[in-house]
Amino acid sequence: MIDGKKVLFSGMQATGNLTLGNYLGALKNWVTLSEEYECFYCVVDEHSITVRQDPAILRKRARALLTLYIAAGLNPEKNCIYYQSHVSGHAELAWILNCYTYMGELSRMTQFKDKSAKHADNINAGLFTYPVLMAADILLYQADVVPVGIDQKQHLEITRDIAQRFNSIYGETFTIPEAYIGKTGAKIMSLQNPEKKMSKSDENPNGSIYLMDDPDTIIRKCKRAVTDSEAQILYRDEQPGVKNLINIYCACTGETPEQVVAEFDGKGYGDLKAAVGEAIVSQLRPLQEEVARLEKDKAYIDSVIKNNAEKAAYFANKTLRKVQKRVGFPERIR
Ligand code: TRP
Repeated sequence: MIDGKKVLFSGMQATGNLTLGNYLGALKNWVTLSEEYECFYCVVDEHSITVRQDPAILRKRARALLTLYIAAGLNPEKNCIYYQSHVSGHAELAWILNCYTYMGELSRMTQFKDKSAKHADNINAGLFTYPVLMAADILLYQADVVPVGIDQKQHLEITRDIAQRFNSIYGETFTIPEAYIGKTGAKIMSLQNPEKKMSKSDENPNGSIYLMDDPDTIIRKCKRAVTDSEAQILYRDEQPGVKNLINIYCACTGETPEQVVAEFDGKGYGDLKAAVGEAIVSQLRPLQEEVARLEKDKAYIDSVIKNNAEKAAYFANKTLRKVQKRVGFPERIR
């Protein structure tokens, strides 16, 4: 608890271009949650180097992501928006927690298995202990809730296991966090393969709407979206492409699937695709304008980066000092 409010922690990686799925499925919900919780929204740049990155691109994308958090409506006076690498406590706690995490647990992580298959030439120790750094992120702030996608649920479970293990050895130290899995309705699938999540690492750029795509590109990608040969606009699992378009439309307009089905009764896929394109364009326009405005205000973004890193470090150090003492590190001499 901070000032009588429960603590929320979440983070995103600045690798790849963020998609509409990241926005509708995560960022938009973060803004709603920020009213209820004391929030830490981190740009997890330390996680990013578990896969080889171009330094200049990583730096640029990290700043773009931080700017996007603000543009999406997270007030940096109220929410702690910062870079993981600016608060050394993340790495320090991760080291300690590494010593309370078993190789067996880590080898069961499906993300590790997937990523090591994908990057077979670079299966580094950081990739293996990725979940431990993530546990450190969360536990450092004594977070009560962690909004994540379903793919991160296993990482939340190991975080809870590590925290419980530590607490049972040394006494109450960490708050045990709960995963907050967003509504399934907001799960956005690829436009080219509606069985697959819309992903920033998709090789086919037509499958994803990127947050910075211009209106023509958005409309074109929607027009090309894969549907089916049923030629009827219904909301059902047998028509995953159409269902996904309806979900996107609903997430942008606030309508329910039933309303959309009624609205498009007797119309064709072309009409639906055009309407979805327009809905996305209007959803993203204010966001893109705000990003453009903020990007020009270098001094403001710099001040957010500095102030929030200090704020985060204050809370991080409180936990870190406690943990260091618990495990037996000598006291600091002041
Ligand atoms: N692993 C998360 C992802 O790829 C990102 C992340 C890192 C995170 N640390 C976190 C998410 C802590 C929530 C809480 O999506």
